[in-house]
Amino acid sequence: MSKYKARKLSIIGAGAVGTSAAQWSVQRQIADDIVLYDVVEGLPQGKALDIGQTAPLNGFAGRIAGTNDFSLTADSDVVIVTAGLARKPGMSRDDLLEKNVQIVKGISEQVASYSPECCLIVVTNPIDAMVYTAFKVSGFPRQRVVGMAGVLDSARYRVLIAKALGVAPCDVTALVMGIHGDNMLPMIRLASVNGVPVADLLSKEAIDEIVKKTQYGGAEIVQHLKTGSAFTTPGLAAVEMAESILKDSKRVMPCAAYLEGEFGISGLFMGVPVVLGAEGVERILEFPLTNDEKAALELSVNAVKKQMEATGL
Ligand code: LAC
Repeated sequence: MSKYKARKLSIIGAGAVGTSAAQWSVQRQIADDIVLYDVVEGLPQGKALDIGQTAPLNGFAGRIAGTNDFSLTADSDVVIVTAGLARKPGMSRDDLLEKNVQIVKGISEQVASYSPECCLIVVTNPIDAMVYTAFKVSGFPRQRVVGMAGVLDSARYRVLIAKALGVAPCDVTALVMGIHGDNMLPMIRLASVNGVPVADLLSKEAIDEIVKKTQYGGAEIVQHLKTGSAFTTPGLAAVEMAESILKDSKRVMPCAAYLEGEFGISGLFMGVPVVLGAEGVERILEFPLTNDEKAALELSVNAVKKQMEATGL
């Protein structure tokens, strides 16, 4: 008998981000069994069939199924939660809080009962409050509950730096910490192009502009789309995280992790660099911050606290 244990990934919510995550999971072949769940009848089934039909073209040898039956997600190794309302023009991520907290509560209860050993990746906005909701309701240890945002925000930051410098985005290393909101903190000191500090290559004005554009990167897309928000990169960002957990790759990514004293912050989820492996958030990479960075991160802390209070948990 084969000793290989098939890896199972469930994606909750077959909206734009969930569908994108399902598509990237198949393309990247990160799991053997992929389940796409949604409450809307027919939606996950149709999407999963369509995505599954890419298998011969993608070389995907696994299985993907769509369902309205949560029990089919049972014994997942990783569950990505994307369900919830998305932003429309003029709406902040906070405007979504009241509705989405109820949705994420219900899902977290079901995840905890069907996949008690899984790692939960929360993508639903406002992410820092929704990942806290999932943590509280699931009762999972902090290692197994993580929020997606830093990977997306850092990708936007890297693209903007690359464009300003006329270099390939994949050669830009950069980190966004803090909340997934207007107060997020693109770290200037740590941004580099293959090791060369970006701060030595661009003017302060150019960098300030990039920081601002990164902070409003999501809103810019909402403004263009009018009826929804970004989904391609958010889906891929969640899949990158899931892949590192499923394959125990120990990749280092900025993610919303529950802090217990790291960076002098306790009792809340916020974007920090973490090591993602089979155990989930295996380590938080803590390093000394400058006084300016500490002050900027404090804005995130206050904003996250406000969101947390609004969850009523
Ligand atoms: C964004 C949404 C997903 O940043 O928050 O595009």
